[in-house]
Amino acid sequence: MNIEPLEGRSPAPTTIEHARFAHESEEEFARLLDFYRVPWQYEPRTFPLRLGAGGRIIEAFSPDFYLPDLDLYIELTTLKQALVTDKHRKLRRLQELHPDIQIKLLHKRDYLSLLSKYGIGAVNEHERIAVREVLISATELERRINELGAEITHDYSGRELLLVGVLKGVTCFMADLMRHIALQLSIDFMTISSYDGDRSGAVRIVQDLTENIEGRDVLVVEDIVDTGMTLRHLMRQMLMREPATLEVCALLDKRARRLVETPIRYVGFEIADEFVVGYGLDYRQRFRNLPFIATVRSETADDGPRGSAASESATI
Ligand code: IMP
Ligand code: MG
Repeated sequence: MNIEPLEGRSPAPTTIEHARFAHESEEEFARLLDFYRVPWQYEPRTFPLRLGAGGRIIEAFSPDFYLPDLDLYIELTTLKQALVTDKHRKLRRLQELHPDIQIKLLHKRDYLSLLSKYGIGAVNEHERIAVREVLISATELERRINELGAEITHDYSGRELLLVGVLKGVTCFMADLMRHIALQLSIDFMTISSYDGDRSGAVRIVQDLTENIEGRDVLVVEDIVDTGMTLRHLMRQMLMREPATLEVCALLDKRARRLVETPIRYVGFEIADEFVVGYGLDYRQRFRNLPFIATVRSETADDGPRGSAASESATI
């Protein structure tokens, strides 16, 4: 890590071609951010942590990324546990000195699970992913969706609603939710491309709405909000079309993994940081037809897609 006093230096946005990444995982992360059009700077700032005699810097910390739009620093740690502990210490020290800065530590497993979510990380033909356990049963889903429907019916009473579902994961949820809303409503769907590790490309609308949303009460229906990057992009696109109101209803909220904050008005269930399938949600297009939400495990490792990616990934 370079230690440079950076007073007064204003960092220019970095591009993948120009950044000198210390680690391949950083480059992949930058590509992921590019895909979601989240501007980033690579190691733009070094924070002195400890000063010696004469103001000499004896310890410093340069977070890997700064995301100016979100005013957020990101430190990726793909290192061994012993080194991670040291990083935690540095991070705490940094927060003591600069309580105002926002920084997030992404552990190797967070990062790998981010990638495996998009199906990146080698899977060989012998790998088998299987359901581990039911996290939310069909009955629990039904009960909660009933409540959500009643709440939405109450909040939008006397108005006409347009539900916009984001394909494909939302199919089951949309079908059940709309049957619990006692209002005049229309539905429409949209398909958004997802990150595939491609060197180029950015998130885009693959299949657009057929309805005009201008001046209407729009409720975006999502299966799951994870980092929040998909939703952020979607909300920006939708706002440009000037709906009268725009809110979000997500069945699942993986709050612990949020990188980008977007307000979610209705949440079905808050779940822990674990990869889930079923009730519309997939792992590489499989498991959407399960009537419940389940966690998965890999038969080559006992830790879900994250475990297998960790042991076999070619990209890390
Ligand atoms: P985000 O942009 O990271 O918030 O990703 C949201 C999208 O990633 C969702 O709409 C899902 O398609 C997918 N996703 C995130 N977490 C999971 C999961 O645990 N299982 C299946 N798909 C997921
Ligand atoms: Mg989705």
